[in-house]
Amino acid sequence: MKSVGIIGWRGMVGSVLLKRMQEEKDFSKIIPYFFSTSQSGQNGPIINNTLSKNLKDAYNINSLQEMDIIITCQGSAYTEKIYPQLRNNNWKGYWIDAASTLRMENDSIIILDPVNLNIINNALDKGIKTFVGGNCTVSLMLMALGGLFSNNLIDWISVSTYQAASGAGSRYVVELLKQMGCLYSVVAEKLSDQSCSILDIEKKVTLESHSKNFPSENFSVPLAASLIPWIDIEMKNGQSREEWKGQAETNKILGLKKQVLIDGTCVRISSIRCHSQSFLIKLNKDISLESIRKIIVNHNQWVNIIPNHMQETLYNLTPSAVTGTLNIPIGRLRKLSMGNRYLSAFTVGDQLLWGAAEPLRRMLNLLINI
Ligand code: HSE
Repeated sequence: MKSVGIIGWRGMVGSVLLKRMQEEKDFSKIIPYFFSTSQSGQNGPIINNTLSKNLKDAYNINSLQEMDIIITCQGSAYTEKIYPQLRNNNWKGYWIDAASTLRMENDSIIILDPVNLNIINNALDKGIKTFVGGNCTVSLMLMALGGLFSNNLIDWISVSTYQAASGAGSRYVVELLKQMGCLYSVVAEKLSDQSCSILDIEKKVTLESHSKNFPSENFSVPLAASLIPWIDIEMKNGQSREEWKGQAETNKILGLKKQVLIDGTCVRISSIRCHSQSFLIKLNKDISLESIRKIIVNHNQWVNIIPNHMQETLYNLTPSAVTGTLNIPIGRLRKLSMGNRYLSAFTVGDQLLWGAAEPLRRMLNLLINI
C-alpha cells in the first residue's frame, strides 16, 4: 500500500476531503500520515473511530520525502515554500494540490477526471507527477457543461457567477454569519411589531451595515444584504483574477488547441457553500433544446437537468437545495431572443465538493491503483 501524506486536513477543504475519504473507505487503501504545520507530535485525527498516528512536521522535508503521494489543502504559501524543495531534492512522489500555485505550470495537470480522464491518463503515462485541483467555478462549470464542450458545441461563453462565502475561506463564512446576526438583532423586536413601518426597519438595517462596528474585517464591506462584484486580485486588463481563471483553466483542463473564449463577472454573494453560475452560451450550430439536454445529461452521472419551470427551479436549482451534495443541477435552459445559437443556462454546485475536495480524492484513487 502507498504511503500518503495529508496536509491541511483541518481547514474547510481538508475537512470535507477527510469526510469524503471516510465515506468512500479510501483510508483502507492507503497508509495515511497526517502532517501539521504547527502541532507535530500531537495526536492525529480520529479516522473511522480510530486515532491515527501522531502528527508529522509538515515542514520536515525528510519526512515528506518518505511519502509516495502527498495531498495538500494547506494553501498557496505552503506549496510555494515546500514543493520546490521537495522536487529539488529529487523527490519522485505524486503531489496532489488544492492550491492554485502550480495549476498553470507546464509539468502539472489540472484534475477533473469526469471531464479530462484521458488527459490525466496520458500525463501519467508520460511520468507527470503533479496534479492540481481546478478553480471551483471552472470545475463546477465543466461538470455542468461537459457534454457541450466534449461535442465541440461551444463558440464562446459569457458568465456571471454567484459565489459562496466559503470560497474566500472559513473566516469569511464566520464574518458573513456575524453580519447576518447583527442585522437581525437591530430589528428583532420591530419584526414582531405589526405596526412598525418596513421603511423604518430597512433604515435601521442599512445604518447598522454602514456603522463602523459592523463586522467587516475580512470582506472590508457588508456582504449580508448586499453583494461584492469582485473576487481576487486585479489583472492588468480589468478582469479580476477569478475572471481570468475561467478561460485559462478551462482550456488547459480540456487540452484545447483552439481556445474557447470565456469571460464575465465574478460576484460574491451570501450563500455558504454553493457557487451558482449563469451562462450565455454562443453555440457553434443551431441544435435543438432536446438534443442539448440529452448531450448534457449523458456526460456524467452527477449532472441533472432541471426543467425550465418555476416550481422545479425553486426547489432544485438553488444553493440551499444543493449544499452538501455532489449533485450538479443545470436548468433555465432556453434559447435566447438573440437567436437559435444563443443558449442560456444556470447551474449550482457545492464548491467544497466538486469545486475542491472531490477531484483531489478521485485523483488519489487513480494513483492508488497504479
Ligand atoms: N476562488 C474561489 C472563490 C474559491 O473565491 O470563491 C474556489 O476555488
